[in-house]
Amino acid sequence: MADGMSPSQRALLRLGRSLGDSTVRTDPSSCETFARDESETEPVTPAGVVHASTAEHVRQTLAVCHDEGVCVVPRGGATGRTGGATVIRPDTVVLDTTPLAAVKHLDRANQTVVVEPGVRTASLHALAESEGLFFPPDPLSAEWSCLGGNVAENAGGPRAFKYGVTREYTRVIEAALMGGETVRAGHRTSKGVAGYDVASLLVGSEGTLAVFTELTLRLVALPPEVRTLVAGFADARDAGRAVASLVARGLTPRCVELVDEVCCDVMRAHDATVLPAGARAVLVIECDGHHPAAVDAELDRVADVCDAVGARHLERARTRDEREALWRVRRVMSRSLRATAAHKLSEDVVVPRSEVPALLDAVRVIAARESIVMPTYGHAGDGNLHVNVLWNTPDERPRVDRAIEALFRATLDLGGTLSGEHGIGVLKAPYLPWEQSPALLDLQQRIKAAFDPRGLLNPGKVFTPGGAPSHRGC
Ligand code: LAC
Ligand code: ZN
Repeated sequence: MADGMSPSQRALLRLGRSLGDSTVRTDPSSCETFARDESETEPVTPAGVVHASTAEHVRQTLAVCHDEGVCVVPRGGATGRTGGATVIRPDTVVLDTTPLAAVKHLDRANQTVVVEPGVRTASLHALAESEGLFFPPDPLSAEWSCLGGNVAENAGGPRAFKYGVTREYTRVIEAALMGGETVRAGHRTSKGVAGYDVASLLVGSEGTLAVFTELTLRLVALPPEVRTLVAGFADARDAGRAVASLVARGLTPRCVELVDEVCCDVMRAHDATVLPAGARAVLVIECDGHHPAAVDAELDRVADVCDAVGARHLERARTRDEREALWRVRRVMSRSLRATAAHKLSEDVVVPRSEVPALLDAVRVIAARESIVMPTYGHAGDGNLHVNVLWNTPDERPRVDRAIEALFRATLDLGGTLSGEHGIGVLKAPYLPWEQSPALLDLQQRIKAAFDPRGLLNPGKVFTPGGAPSHRGC
């Protein structure tokens, strides 16, 4: 530090000179905005922010920071739940890719679209729909989340039950590496096995390997017919039995969402009309397709299965407005729940779909044992449930930690995984060794070192060098 400047100050000065002061910000009020994401991890203000509006801005940031030994945290809509877009030490540069937001090309003949990473997910939904096309992944934060973040987290959401997750829709990733080199991974074509599948490796890599500058995404034909059924049950376990039964029969609605007793109350507090009166727990099931009669027939079969496992209410959304009212309330479930207590932790564990009732049993047992509220909702059709822990005072904290650990143990014992869509980030990093062997963790860290030998890109995410679990809530 011969010139009296820290490495981040030097890097930001160099970047400010080449990219301009409106792109590179170091004033405290600009930097403070980037101290947190939606995970409520401990806020840490970065030394500066680069608002990248071109791929060249991204490359230069990664070149200069690599050179100066400065950490970089890439950031999109910052809607993540595990702290992936947060800074863990102050001498860090945040690379904001939200201004990199052009839709470059829509290829109708091949049903692909080339976008920059800052395009909002909901914008792509609307654009695709206006062309009679469909981008199924929907992390429910679609209005705020960006496609770069969706790819970095391999976002899922409700429609993954039928259509799969973001990885299935990612064809080509152009990305910049620490040091500034650009790679293009993947293939525009529907098939392709040339070389390693580096594009798939980048999907879900949580911003730790490279920073995306362009994405070629796959679209499908828009299914014009959509039908929605809300099935009410006596409790969440009965709803879970219906999920297992639907899956076992090979039915393929586009979503099978479960909402337990507490979460039903939260939804009703927003809009009492969206759920059947008296239903204690519900499944929201949606079928879609191209032929009205076929979609109606599929929904009838779904309703029969729910009936057979004891559904007490079977209500169909009659209009698009009714369906949209229901989803409006469901989209804000996470935020609505958060407003009911001082602290909230939201997990996204996944179990084999036949084990959904067993997972719900485990949640009930853990909640009773620790005298804690654990509202549960989510993408039950995929075995992917958002199990939340709510608490208000610090003295409850040991019970919260025990509840989370018991949830993770139960999930793994049922053959599941700790994250279906929110990633590992900071908050779950201490638990990854519970799921993965030392050899697998070591292999991944060697891959990380091949992309980022100095360990500067999004440090502290996915892997930790050990230490006690420290949840902050999200
Ligand atoms: C949801 C987000 C939190 O499903 O994943 O609401
Ligand atoms: Zn979700």
